[in-house]
Amino acid sequence: MDRAAPDKPMTVPALAEARRAGRRLAMLTAYDAGFARVLDANGTDIVLVGDSLGMVVQGHASTLPVAVEDMVYHVSAVARGLRRALLLADLPFQADATPERALDAATRLLQAGAGMVKLEGAGPHKLAAIRFLAAREIPVCAHLGLTPQSVLRFGGYRVQGREADAAAQLRADALAVAEAGATLLVLECVPSALAEQITRDSAVPTIGIGAGPHCDGQVLVLHDMLGLDSGHRRPKFVKDFLEDGGSVAGAVRAYVSAVREGSFPGPGHAYD
Ligand code: KIV
Repeated sequence: MDRAAPDKPMTVPALAEARRAGRRLAMLTAYDAGFARVLDANGTDIVLVGDSLGMVVQGHASTLPVAVEDMVYHVSAVARGLRRALLLADLPFQADATPERALDAATRLLQAGAGMVKLEGAGPHKLAAIRFLAAREIPVCAHLGLTPQSVLRFGGYRVQGREADAAAQLRADALAVAEAGATLLVLECVPSALAEQITRDSAVPTIGIGAGPHCDGQVLVLHDMLGLDSGHRRPKFVKDFLEDGGSVAGAVRAYVSAVREGSFPGPGHAYD
């Protein structure tokens, strides 16, 4: 299996090629040009400007206060730091409430430098938004499981898909988002066995966070993998790579190699 990082810029079709070649995808978040440059130079395949910026950069208790303007600002900064990695940008809370709003926000994010946008959930209006964007040449990544924009309905940040009916719903949602046109799927905080099953059945690559070792790639929030105190309880799936890496660049290299060779996430970073 080819696990070497390609020197070529990462593109949307290259995501599927990586999966076919058995090369795991390493993804991290960044919010500014300086960190983006370090991630890019040290092998990160996908750099996500996540709406997690509401929590780790802006200091809010959730991602809900993040506005499209905030995302555009951070996406343009990150874009200036990237040469190789694919820039993925979140549609923030309610920016995908209608297909038209999603198109407006996604267009602004692509014009600011993103190569793909991510949206959470698989309800009817989310599927409509995915379809609308995909039909208009906007690459879409779906995000299922613990979708942080649903924190009020969930009543907190909890593992999803543990009960049989919830697991069946997640499996159906994963097929539905790909059928609607998503070409990448983030699975957050779901039991490893469920993520393995979804990955096996999925037509598109999966990226896990708290979803065990069987996904086609992994993502962590930059602040978490650098061991920064977020002011929130540190989730089980987080590993501090700065401890071993010795520098930010070393931490990124350690993370990328651990993802590629399959040593991260380990059993202690996964949910049953
Ligand atoms: O906003 C974010 O950083 C994310 C990751 C946790 C996947 O969506």
